[in-house]
Amino acid sequence: MNILHISDMHFGPRHWLGKTELLLEKLNSYKADIVINTGDSTTDGLESEYQAAGEFLNAIQCEHIVSIPGNHDKRNMRSADYFHQYIDDTDVIRPLNRDNCKKNYIFLDATTNGVRDHFTDINFLKKITIDDKSVLLICLDTNTLYSDKGFVDTEMLRTLSQAISETPHDKIMLLNHHSILDSDSDPLFNSRLVVEFVRKNNIEHVFCGHTHQLSLMKSTDLYHKHSFTQYKNGSLSSANTPNDTNMFLYYKNLGTEAMETHVVRVIIEGEGLRFEEEVIYNN
Ligand SMILES: [Fe+2]
Repeated sequence: MNILHISDMHFGPRHWLGKTELLLEKLNSYKADIVINTGDSTTDGLESEYQAAGEFLNAIQCEHIVSIPGNHDKRNMRSADYFHQYIDDTDVIRPLNRDNCKKNYIFLDATTNGVRDHFTDINFLKKITIDDKSVLLICLDTNTLYSDKGFVDTEMLRTLSQAISETPHDKIMLLNHHSILDSDSDPLFNSRLVVEFVRKNNIEHVFCGHTHQLSLMKSTDLYHKHSFTQYKNGSLSSANTPNDTNMFLYYKNLGTEAMETHVVRVIIEGEGLRFEEEVIYNN
């Protein structure tokens, strides 16, 4: 199974000046089984930004494109509406008991004018069959409306764990916007709960973005004898990348002994783009 991973496109004021068609041509040359997009597709969660991000995603030639929101995508009370309209009209999983939810603004006031969906968390499962194996992608919303700092609602983790237990699968992986293994200026406040969730659901691969800085880390719990790898992507097309260049990742033969992680750095050069590709062998 081959996966193309993009993140932090930041359509809107923080979008780069690189040529979209050249970037798409390069992305489409990989012919991935699944494309994952780990959030911050927009800068301020505006409708025009969601629309531009949706058009870009639609131009990627892949049957399975799975996007999750980032903190920037939730800067607006209509974020959930726009996500459904322009990115993915997926079936969001509702909490088993809404009275247990603790995340700020997880439900908007039902009298708020013009908002179709008053539930703001965007958690869902995607089951995809690749090479006769079912792959279950857990899409976890670590973002809070109007805030850059991450927070995961315990009730949503409980709800997702139940949904996972009811969905037979051969492989399982997690997508969330914030890192669960390291920290930054806008971190996931209760990342420990997600690490526990990863272990309990026997997840070995976690994909994220957010900091615009590449980090590939493996974590081993010696007591419970469980290991997982976190793949933290840099930004695909942001104008503000003080930490690293723009980039995307391509995982060839994911999770096998023959796995290769391709780090593809994208550099604007005059009217064109230059790509620098580095291959990391995981075994
Ligand atoms: Fe972010």
